[in-house]
Amino acid sequence: MHRSIALVATIVAGALASCTRPNAAPGDGAEAFALACAHCHASGLSGIPAAGVPEDWNARETRDFDVLLERVIAGHGNMPPLGSCAWCSASELRAAIAILVAGSEIEVPEP
Ligand code: HEC
Repeated sequence: MHRSIALVATIVAGALASCTRPNAAPGDGAEAFALACAHCHASGLSGIPAAGVPEDWNARETRDFDVLLERVIAGHGNMPPLGSCAWCSASELRAAIAILVAGSEIEVPEP
């Protein structure tokens, strides 16, 4: 119960934070990650695969980077389309995914 309340609060906070592009150069995956993905992916809350936890990513059903990207764009399970990041370009999403899966067996293609 507490976990689902926390999840809803996280989703609302994230939706508010990620509506507009901040004043940064596009293409910065670290910023996209921090502003749009971290509130869900930082901690492994409610079984969400956590950033920088390779086991979480190795256990996913696919290790294909392009499939992961397609799923982020389309939305997947409880993850909203674009990971809720309306202003993220495809290259920012790719860079953000690279941060998430760092250290795992998922091969990150050259940008
Ligand atoms: C509202 C919370 C939320 C936000 C924000 C969010 N995610 Fe997710 N993400 C999830 C959940 C939940 C899953 C697990 C979905 C499932 O398997 O049902 C997930 C799964 C993923 C996966 C794995 C998909 C797969 O098929 O294994 C990737 C990659 C991912 N997220 C990347 C991102 C990126 C990049 C961002 C930021 C642009 C982001 N997420 C923002 C909740 C979120």
